[in-house]
Amino acid sequence: MEKLKIAGGYPLKGSVKISGAKNSAVALIPATILAESPVTIEGLPDISDVQILGDLLEEIGGHVEINKEEIYVDPTNIVSMPLPNGKVKKLRASYYLMGAMLGRFKKAVIGLPGGCHLGPRPIDQHIKGFEALGAKVTNEQGAIYLRADELRGARIYLDVVSVGATINIMLAAVRAKGRTIIENAAKEPEIIDVATLLTSMGAKIKGAGTDVIRIDGVDSLQGCRHTIIPDRIEAGTYMIIGAAMGEGVLIDNVIPLHLESLIAKFREMGVTVETSDDQIWVAGNKDLKSVDIKTLVYPGFPTDLQQPFTSLLTKASGTGVVTDTIYGARFKHIDELRRMNAQIKVEGRSAIVTGPVQLQGAKVKASDLRAGASLVVAGLMAEGITEITGLEHIDRGYSHLEEKLTGLGATIWRESLTEDEIEQLQNS
Ligand code: EPU
Repeated sequence: MEKLKIAGGYPLKGSVKISGAKNSAVALIPATILAESPVTIEGLPDISDVQILGDLLEEIGGHVEINKEEIYVDPTNIVSMPLPNGKVKKLRASYYLMGAMLGRFKKAVIGLPGGCHLGPRPIDQHIKGFEALGAKVTNEQGAIYLRADELRGARIYLDVVSVGATINIMLAAVRAKGRTIIENAAKEPEIIDVATLLTSMGAKIKGAGTDVIRIDGVDSLQGCRHTIIPDRIEAGTYMIIGAAMGEGVLIDNVIPLHLESLIAKFREMGVTVETSDDQIWVAGNKDLKSVDIKTLVYPGFPTDLQQPFTSLLTKASGTGVVTDTIYGARFKHIDELRRMNAQIKVEGRSAIVTGPVQLQGAKVKASDLRAGASLVVAGLMAEGITEITGLEHIDRGYSHLEEKLTGLGATIWRESLTEDEIEQLQNS
């Protein structure tokens, strides 16, 4: 086990290249199951979730080669083998194996997904969609059993706007008979990315990126080559780092349109931001003004940036209220930020941040992926040394974190935990 150490408080400068989107990658890889010949996906992030999904496809008979930023999947010999336990429990996105296997084999057995603990994360809308397409769905001892004689297109209205349910229903519906219409669909860029891959495979999908998606089922799907979109959350995290400590940070390989809500908030705060086709330049300012943010579905302010943004707010003058309408309990990072001298209180779905304060280095623990990102931001801002444990969460979503930050001039490194530290962590 390792910890991350950051010697904070120093200005950062330079450029950072953004990797492929984690939340696309974790859907694109299961989607390859639907093809009947090899699929190659380029531009993948080097993160543990990609490796785990690659291993899962091999477990069920796929031939998988991961080479740097590229994955090659030959799904010809994949079978609908039950995956009730093991690696599926390690990540939330293993639920995409349900839609993909149901689409190709009309049956699947998949353990209930793991992933970050952000409060309740039901999958009722996924199940509602699968049932509407004709599947019988049961939950037996923590695994979801799906079986259909045939899948038939249906009109499905999502009661909750859900990224996962929208993608999962698309995965199954591309191989259903007839037309499926998903109403109140999520509009996140990752949904368009998955629809682009499926379309290259031969699927007929219209309206991805709007709240009504129409899918005409086809009899078979073929392999193709696909390039993933850049990770807007990783980009947003480096933008926040640039705003907090940057003397000019260039974020390269990004789609600025995907980050308009963050850019708007930066301008309100007094951060300098300039955008071009695929780059964003950010420079901090000594006198940042506090702002309120409320997380919303895309194109609103992303819940996945709420935690790192909270660290930035500690440096702004005034009171900023961070309200998470997507995950009302996504505040496990707050206690850790308080250890670092932040003045924050949590009331219901909101964190109230009073600033400016100078953060101080401390020993802190990442409880989930974006909590980890918020602690990295805070560590870079803090005076002295910050030690972060719980790196398995951060490694699920940030490709080459230390390398990228070192490139900006940060002093950040990993060290092995001592036996005493491992024992303390296990007891905490
Ligand atoms: N929800 C339901 N029922 C469902 C599905 C969702 O009530 O069947 C609720 C959730 O509890 C939540 C809201 O709907 O309150 C939105 O959830 P959504 O399904 O959109 O989230 P998700 O698909 O499980 C993805 C990302 C998350 C990101 C959310 C919101 C992946 C693998 N995960 O999760 O990313 O926070 O969308 O944008 O794509 C992260 O990257 O750190 C992360 C957690």
